[in-house]
Amino acid sequence: MAHGSSCLLLNLAILLLLSIVQSSQAHQKSENGIKTKVFLSPKFESKPGSVVEKYYDNIDFPKGHIAIKGFDAEVIDEQGNSIPLHEAYLHHWVVQRYHQRKGLDIPKHGRDLGFLKSDHIIVGNSGICDYGRLSQYFGLGSETRRTDTSVPEPYGIEVGNPEDIPDGYEERWVLNVHTIDTRGVEDKSGCTECRCDLYNVTKDESGHVLPPGYKGGFFCCYDNVRCKVKEEFRGAEKKGLYMRYTVKYVDWDTSIVPVKIYIIDVSDIWTKADASRGMRESHLCMVEYDVESCPTAVANDGCTHKKSVSVSLPTGGDVIYGVGHQHAGGIGTTLYGEGGRVICSSNPTYGTGNEPGNEAGYIVGMSTCYPSPGSLKISAGEMLTFVSKYNSTKTRTGVMGLFYLLIADPSAANPNVTLNGQLEAHNSVIASNFGWAIALFGAALVGVVVLVFGRRSGTEEGYEAIMT
Ligand SMILES: *[C@@H]1O[C@H](CO)[C@@H](O)[C@H](O)[C@H]1NC(C)=O
Ligand SMILES: *[C@@H]1O[C@H](CO)[C@@H](O)[C@H](O)[C@H]1NC(C)=O
Ligand SMILES: *[C@@H]1O[C@H](CO)[C@@H](O)[C@H](O)[C@H]1NC(C)=O
Repeated sequence: MAHGSSCLLLNLAILLLLSIVQSSQAHQKSENGIKTKVFLSPKFESKPGSVVEKYYDNIDFPKGHIAIKGFDAEVIDEQGNSIPLHEAYLHHWVVQRYHQRKGLDIPKHGRDLGFLKSDHIIVGNSGICDYGRLSQYFGLGSETRRTDTSVPEPYGIEVGNPEDIPDGYEERWVLNVHTIDTRGVEDKSGCTECRCDLYNVTKDESGHVLPPGYKGGFFCCYDNVRCKVKEEFRGAEKKGLYMRYTVKYVDWDTSIVPVKIYIIDVSDIWTKADASRGMRESHLCMVEYDVESCPTAVANDGCTHKKSVSVSLPTGGDVIYGVGHQHAGGIGTTLYGEGGRVICSSNPTYGTGNEPGNEAGYIVGMSTCYPSPGSLKISAGEMLTFVSKYNSTKTRTGVMGLFYLLIADPSAANPNVTLNGQLEAHNSVIASNFGWAIALFGAALVGVVVLVFGRRSGTEEGYEAIMT
């Protein structure tokens, strides 16, 4: 009896403790209807030179049918201090949506890849890479502190719609975080470029010998490998780090226009369908590539490495937001439409100091594009050209050239109620009653379209169980 009640007390104490821990990790505030929640990843330990590459499934995330309006992140220490890139270089973080069969409880710890077992359905973005690569909803790298991720009115990234979640499943999120601790290393830029010689790595994480000529990149930069550190740092102690992420969102309502997420990779190898050879269309995204240094003769007049790819998207619509992703050495990305019109140029900002968000030599932000809604359309099947440029005064390994696009889903809006009508109302600079009437009417129609056609965005693409 006494034993039973002390057990109960202990349980209550644990519950209380858990609720305190929980509330200390999720701060919420609300402004103009936009809610902001701040969460911490599980703690990861990092020592000088070491690579951390973890997958955390079932991370804390706002629940319910919502529209995401922004997703920001940074690396902090146990005291909550922002950690500069020259200490913990944030190679990338990626947040992936998935549906998991209820009642399956997988412990939260890194690298278990519980989420890749059966009973999980990865819900990818709208494309366009195959094999589940780059199928994340959110993700950035060193530029995360100074890159605008906000989704403008009246748009939002719709998640948690019960209609999209198969019976018996629930929606969850997995976080992949990759940091490189460059305290005390011999060659900071070599370590952040994942140069195999500095890591003394000759086999990839699964034990496969690296392909001949592979000098650096992801395959030499997996969890627990260690970049060459100076003598005095060999035994240096571990540091506890977290990724702190901030989700901005609104509760779903029919006035929100959903957007599709597309990610274009400059190293995409696009094979068109060829019925005569029984081949379907494929996009083999290599994600990383190398930059050869230019011949010394031209080294002084700013030699530039230019890589480009031409691809098309399966659906068209209004471009709402665009941002590129590059690594150190990047000097800009541009997405062109058919005929050469510029859809968006996104360029890096390099830091000039020492403090977090302004680290010299690192890309600390990427510029973004917010075309005036309705002013910039992409057509389904339109041939787009994406260009990524790097400064090639030196050789670089494992660089990236990605472009993340938000496109308003035309199927969700009634073509006869112009988006501009709704928008003017939303921005309500001179919101006349007539404008509001159009907006309300539009919202009602969108509601009807949703009811009748029951959108199921994202469920078709997402069955591949490989992530990058
Ligand atoms: C590099 O790895 C090899 C075996 O894989 C090991 O014998 C050697 O000591 C390592 N070198 C350094 C400097 O750690
Ligand atoms: C490339 O980098 C070199 C060395 O840092 C610099 O002198 C040069 O101005 C850069 N060129 C461009 C186009 O950014
Ligand atoms: C939308 O407008 C077109 C022509 O402007 C018309 O043919 C069509 O019937 C309209 N659709 C609806 C649903 O009102």
